[in-house]
Amino acid sequence: MQDKINEIEKSIDDAVKDVESSKTLQEIKMRFLGKTGEISALMKNMREVPPEQRPSMGKLLNALREWTEERFNAIEKRIKEFELKRRYSEEKIDVTLPAKVTDDGAYHPNTLIRRELISIFSGMGFEVFEGPEIENDYYNFTALNTPADHPARDMQDTFYISSDLLLRTQTSAGQIRVMENKKPPIKILSPGKVYRSDDDATHSPMFSQMEGLVVDKSITLCDLKGMLDEFAKKIFGAGVKTRLRPSYFPFTEPSVEVDVSCFECGGSGCRLCKGTGWIEVLGAGMVNRHVLEGCGIDPDIYSGFAFGMGIERIAMLKYGINNMKLLFEGDTRFSKQFKG
Ligand code: DAH
Repeated sequence: MQDKINEIEKSIDDAVKDVESSKTLQEIKMRFLGKTGEISALMKNMREVPPEQRPSMGKLLNALREWTEERFNAIEKRIKEFELKRRYSEEKIDVTLPAKVTDDGAYHPNTLIRRELISIFSGMGFEVFEGPEIENDYYNFTALNTPADHPARDMQDTFYISSDLLLRTQTSAGQIRVMENKKPPIKILSPGKVYRSDDDATHSPMFSQMEGLVVDKSITLCDLKGMLDEFAKKIFGAGVKTRLRPSYFPFTEPSVEVDVSCFECGGSGCRLCKGTGWIEVLGAGMVNRHVLEGCGIDPDIYSGFAFGMGIERIAMLKYGINNMKLLFEGDTRFSKQFKG
């Protein structure tokens, strides 16, 4: 028996000689001390040992087991310390290294203009309402006095999702949603993305608009003009004037195109205003009585005006951006050039 014990002790010594990880140590430990390990097997054999030899054999085997456990514990302690040291050195941070430089972002010109417009109009008492980008035909066209066979539908190349669902072509669709749910006085501003199948240096299939709507008793075209004068001065500069030109939109009557005097040349004519002294900035008009009626608002008691502008267009004019595509490339070297 003593020989067997010596043999086991020797094979333990051999096995743990080069061990470096606690995982391998654990495996070796199981080989000797595990339920089916070599020492456990010897213990089980005790049954076959004659009774008079059992006490001395038991002593020897207990001593072997204790010796083995102590041996493993000592090695385990050593390995743990070693592994901890290695982890510390691997995770060491050199606080004296220079920090990685991350590039600063910048607000997109659209965001700057959108915020500036909201700030100007909320100063005049407008509230922001955001309608859905996926609209149905009714809100985008029919309720805006543009029934299915109306020629004005051709003014906007529409992306249809189904025969009834579409990507809104104009934020004007939001006007109807507001008027259906709120009784006058109404004073809302509705910014958002719109979509049209159109793509060149001044058009993009997705762009942004800002819509305004005012409905109350005795609202006139003079109120619209006065408000636009105020808006133009705030966004393009104190010396800027506005003028209204007759136009056509199905949902307004009368309809106007709004120009501002050229803020680049002061009206004498330059490249920006193409020599005319005026720059077209938005469409507007008095809300058509059919539109009010359709939303349950009595046009004999109430009247209103509406206006809609392209945010990219305002950004391009204000910041002198000559290609609309620059607004869609997401290049921070471009955005960084603009301050709100
Ligand atoms: N929805 C028009 C467009 O996208 C712009 C517009 C014109 C909006 C006149 C209005 C308005 O509210 O009164 O071309």
